[in-house]
Amino acid sequence: MTSLADTASRVRGLELGAVDYVTKPFVRAELAARVRAQIAVRAGARALAEKNAELEQAAAALARARDTLEAEVIRRTDELMATNQRLTHMNRVAAMSELAASIAHELNQPLAAILSNAQAARRLLQRPTPDVNEALSALADIVDDDRRAATIIQRMRAMLKKGTPRADGQNLNELASEVARLVGNDALLRGVALRLDLTPRLPEVRGDGIQLQQVVLNLVVNALDAVADRPAGARLVVVRTRGNGKDRVLLSVEDSGKGIAPAEMERVFEAFYTTKAEGLGVGLPISRSIVEAHGGRLWAENNPGEGATFWCALPIGEEKGA
Ligand SMILES: Nc1ncnc2c1ncn2[C@@H]1O[C@H](COP(=O)(O)OP(=O)(O)O)[C@@H](O)[C@H]1O
Ligand SMILES: [Mg+2]
Repeated sequence: MTSLADTASRVRGLELGAVDYVTKPFVRAELAARVRAQIAVRAGARALAEKNAELEQAAAALARARDTLEAEVIRRTDELMATNQRLTHMNRVAAMSELAASIAHELNQPLAAILSNAQAARRLLQRPTPDVNEALSALADIVDDDRRAATIIQRMRAMLKKGTPRADGQNLNELASEVARLVGNDALLRGVALRLDLTPRLPEVRGDGIQLQQVVLNLVVNALDAVADRPAGARLVVVRTRGNGKDRVLLSVEDSGKGIAPAEMERVFEAFYTTKAEGLGVGLPISRSIVEAHGGRLWAENNPGEGATFWCALPIGEEKGA
């Protein structure tokens, strides 16, 4: 409150820290109004500063949360990738032990034939008058059987070769036939009729032959398991190939087993889901990830009659240069 009403004095007063002024003689109501206004301004400024501090704290907390989240996402991604690698390996091991059993059985046959032909040749040559011609024919059979055994071992080697994923033209008919050869004896032993129903001149798909073969092998071995409880004569597995007339080829594995409960239709593709005492529950999830990595789809349906069909749809490969 001042009696210095000239402009210089007012400015000086404000410069010294006054927030307002009234000059004498003052009107009581004006003074009260100005004081109230200043109190309101002060309260407003304080509230604003508090809100500002709160906001800054919230922003800092948010930034910390984001950093933690990012670190967590990176950690989980690493974990998932490591798990995926382990699963791929486990599945390979599981598929290989299935294969090893089937191949051991396949090798038994030429080995037994070689033994009996070798014994026969020895007897023929030990005769008082050796039958050289018959002995030669037994030896020729031994050579044939030996070649057959070598082919079986070569196939095993090709399956075991680790190698990086390749993207060559693959013929699903050949893959299906090869898998049928690999598990043929196993199917026979289990009393399962394994049939191929292949569409001739099927377009090729681009992909890794070993991986795709593993998918077909997984599906066929599951189908063999699925029909195990059926009576002899009712155990049927059919591997089909079809084109869709444009951009995809389909491979299906149909079985006459007990099918899949509708609620489990997607769960069967989950890692570690298994209903088998010795099951790992990794065959289907790995198969699905292989098919999806090839731009395709893998799913299951129950048949109208009995059993289930697993479908694998893959995009056909572009013709080179087209
Ligand atoms: N053809 C099929 N018919 C019925 N159930 C199936 C079939 N294929 C797979 N399943 C079910 O899906 C589960 C998971 O299969 P998979 O991932 O190959 O693991 P695993 O064969 O080791 O159990 C099986 O345990 C079985 O319950
Ligand atoms: Mg399986």
